Amino acid sequence: MKRAMYIPSIVTAILFGLASALVQGQPLTNPVNEKERAVLFPSTRMINQGRDVAEAACAGCHGMDGISDHNGTPQLAGQRAVYLYRVQQAFQDGSRPDETNKHKGFINDEAVLAVSAYYASLAAVVQPETPLSAEQADELNEDPFMVIRDAMTKCVKCHGETGNADGSGMPSLSAQHPDYFVASMKGYLDGSRSHKLMKKLAGNLDEATIRDMGVFYAVQEPLRTQTQGQGDANVGQRLSQGCQSCHGVDGNANKADMPSLAGQDAKYFVKAMKQYRDGKRQHEKMFEAAEKFNEQDLLDLATYYAAQEPIKRDVRAPLKSTEWIARCARCHGIDGNSSDPRFPMLAGQDEDYLKKTLKAYSAGGRDTTTMHAMADPLSAMDIERIAAYFASQQPKAVVYIQLPCQD
Ligand code: HEC
Ligand code: HEC
Ligand code: HEC
Ligand code: HEC
Repeated sequence: MKRAMYIPSIVTAILFGLASALVQGQPLTNPVNEKERAVLFPSTRMINQGRDVAEAACAGCHGMDGISDHNGTPQLAGQRAVYLYRVQQAFQDGSRPDETNKHKGFINDEAVLAVSAYYASLAAVVQPETPLSAEQADELNEDPFMVIRDAMTKCVKCHGETGNADGSGMPSLSAQHPDYFVASMKGYLDGSRSHKLMKKLAGNLDEATIRDMGVFYAVQEPLRTQTQGQGDANVGQRLSQGCQSCHGVDGNANKADMPSLAGQDAKYFVKAMKQYRDGKRQHEKMFEAAEKFNEQDLLDLATYYAAQEPIKRDVRAPLKSTEWIARCARCHGIDGNSSDPRFPMLAGQDEDYLKKTLKAYSAGGRDTTTMHAMADPLSAMDIERIAAYFASQQPKAVVYIQLPCQD
């Protein structure tokens, strides 16, 4: 088969039904039906009809060539045919909000099919408008914790590189949930915890940085402390019965606001308990828990907990942009060149439109469960970078081949 030289293309065999198992139950991802097959293998008549519709109703914004020059208006040229058709249906039935009010009501189903086939048949932009700079390309691979690395160099001396402290009396931070981490930093600031240096350090950090640090430590591999206590771990275990409901059976807490005690530095542990007891560290429940113990009890408890194996918290590690992009490929194809006619091509799409759309998914404004679940954890920076990436990719047309019928 001869291929046009100037349009890079993907050749796809049609195997509907298989891919659809992934995301069933949503109109936009249902298997392609009989009627929709027509837009994949359009007749000349259909394309001509679609051209007429485009000229009459769409070209003012989307151009006759499907290439818009308004920032924020999506490119339609070469967009996947079934996606184009279903999106217009979603505009019609209101399930996709339409701020332009230009996609509703006035055109019948046949015309929608035809105009979808027409725009899908056009060659997409040959040269993406916004190529990726070398700097942008580097940023895609940037360590997601880059922004906090500088601030964190201050913590290493006492809490270790990965939050596993090795100095006696220093708490390990690695087995804690970010929520507890944030609360404890606030505690130093509001005076419910007293430690001059920690107060000063926490005061130098903004809220987002503190949160990111909490995530950083939570996704590190926690290690058991080197500072094992000199008490009796068996006695400690017996005394720990009353602690289990909050701190977990072996000192690995489940709840986000509860600190884990497993593997924690024994000296720090004893100090913390004494601080609760004499009110230097204010917490009613912990005052009640600590009040009844003598010096030896505290040592036994500390020894027991220090010897337990800490378990990493169930917190999702942030991804590099390149790692996100690899996940998008599952549905949107390599470099955003979807080979499934139901999934939109992202390659060469208008950058502002991509940003707007990803923000809308993130905020729940444009509602699809699949995309919402994907875009939810994207930060503002992720969105900037991912949109720039896809906008800069070379779009490729798809050629669909009818497979011979089995029966
Ligand atoms: C007044 C300008 C205007 C006109 C006329 C117009 N559109 Fe649009 N169209 C837009 C804008 C702006 C968007 C992006 C809306 C959004 O952000 O959801 C859009 C979105 C779309 C989308 C969704 C693209 C995607 O990637 O999800 C399709 C498909 C589409 N238009 C097809 C058409 C067709 C077909 C016609 C003619 C029948 C038409 N439009 C007429 C401005 C227009
Ligand atoms: C000079 C040593 C030192 C440095 C530097 C230091 N810390 Fe601390 N940190 C401590 C000590 C000691 C405690 C225990 C204080 C107390 O008794 O409440 C502590 C407690 C904490 C706690 C509470 C732990 C818990 O289990 O409740 C957090 C969170 C924390 N530090 C984070 C940080 C961060 C983030 C940095 C860097 C910005 C940092 N620390 C720098 C010594 C240090
Ligand atoms: C009702 C729930 C509850 C019970 C029961 C409880 N704790 Fe706690 N514990 C907490 C909470 C909440 C915190 C965090 C308080 C704060 O912010 O200072 C905490 C903090 C601690 C800390 C400080 C951890 C750190 O990293 O700074 C130690 C040590 C501790 N508990 C030990 C115990 C022991 C030992 C027992 C049993 C004798 C016990 N707790 C029983 C809720 C509880
Ligand atoms: C499980 C499949 C799946 C994955 C994975 C996925 N998407 Fe989507 N995406 C879809 C579907 C289906 C649509 C069309 C649904 C709609 O807009 O309502 C869509 C639509 C989009 C759109 C709107 C396109 C347009 O023309 O309006 C953008 C932008 C997008 N996805 C970006 C991404 C990015 C970035 C990722 C990776 C972080 C990603 N998607 C991962 C299935 C997926």
